[in-house]
Amino acid sequence: MNEFACDVRNGLSKPQKELPSKYLYDELGSALFDAITVLPEYGLTRADQRLLETHAADLPREFCAVAEFGSGSGRKTRAVLEALSPQRYYPIDLSARALENCSNALAGLARVEPVEATYLNGLDRVPRNGEPVLLLFLGSTIGNFDARCRGDFLRQVRSRLRTGDAMLIGFDLVKPVEQMLEAYDDPTGVTASFNLNLLGRINRELGGDFDQRAFAHEARYDPEARRIEMHLRSLRDQVASIRDAAVECRFRAGESIWTESSHKFQPEEICEIARAAGFEIEAQWVDEQWPFAESFWRAA
Ligand SMILES: C[S@@+](CC[C@H](N)C(=O)[O-])C[C@H]1O[C@@H](n2cnc3c(N)ncnc32)[C@H](O)[C@@H]1O
Repeated sequence: MNEFACDVRNGLSKPQKELPSKYLYDELGSALFDAITVLPEYGLTRADQRLLETHAADLPREFCAVAEFGSGSGRKTRAVLEALSPQRYYPIDLSARALENCSNALAGLARVEPVEATYLNGLDRVPRNGEPVLLLFLGSTIGNFDARCRGDFLRQVRSRLRTGDAMLIGFDLVKPVEQMLEAYDDPTGVTASFNLNLLGRINRELGGDFDQRAFAHEARYDPEARRIEMHLRSLRDQVASIRDAAVECRFRAGESIWTESSHKFQPEEICEIARAAGFEIEAQWVDEQWPFAESFWRAA
């Protein structure tokens, strides 16, 4: 059984059924995510882009190599590469299609060496020759980790970096609940399609028989955990079987599969997150229109 099938089997066996968000990004999922980034309700990408375009020139120039976690199509990365002119750029992403788009878009700005891998495995594959590396983690993708995993993950990132390496990392900040919910439940239905595509992917790749029309996209906000959760809610009692995961999964009407979390941050907690992972904040910029922080950390 491959890793995808194992993860699906494990996730759907939990009392609160869940699926890892990394599986949202097959070819169609990556295209749908790109569409999300231009939705009027999803101000996050535009805020990130404004900050990068305004402040990339303020970053130190000593980085010969830039690596990026979850680069996607790399649209926002252009501003950083134009400002720093690194020799090499290593986008690290699970999605082959995203990496292909990213490589095509940024080819003129550095030698692009795409790494198709999960974050840490990908970072292990970035060659080091003693020069400082800048690691990008844009778009508040760090918000997809739950609080405990986030700390472990950032410490593992730090342990792979050398003193003097740096990380530019984006954090989407808490804002009015309605605004956050609209960003993950747009009236055009693009985010719903992005979420429902996960069931389609399971059907295509693992021989599943999910009826995608019998599930509805749902975005919820948990104020205590400060996170938006995306769920797929079953519209009726039903059974889905997934051949390659050897699973027959029963759903009650109203029961959900939790597919993604997006944590929202308070500006003052970023300092503690950085320190606990072994980084020092050297600079931080916040967008005025859509509260979002771009934080430049140095491996201490
Ligand atoms: C939310 S999108 C962000 C894309 C882009 N950085 C942006 O800010 O618009 C997350 C990206 O990370 C990739 N991704 C998700 N989980 C991953 C993982 N565990 N390892 C590597 N890439 C991952 C996805 O394929 C997707 O391209």
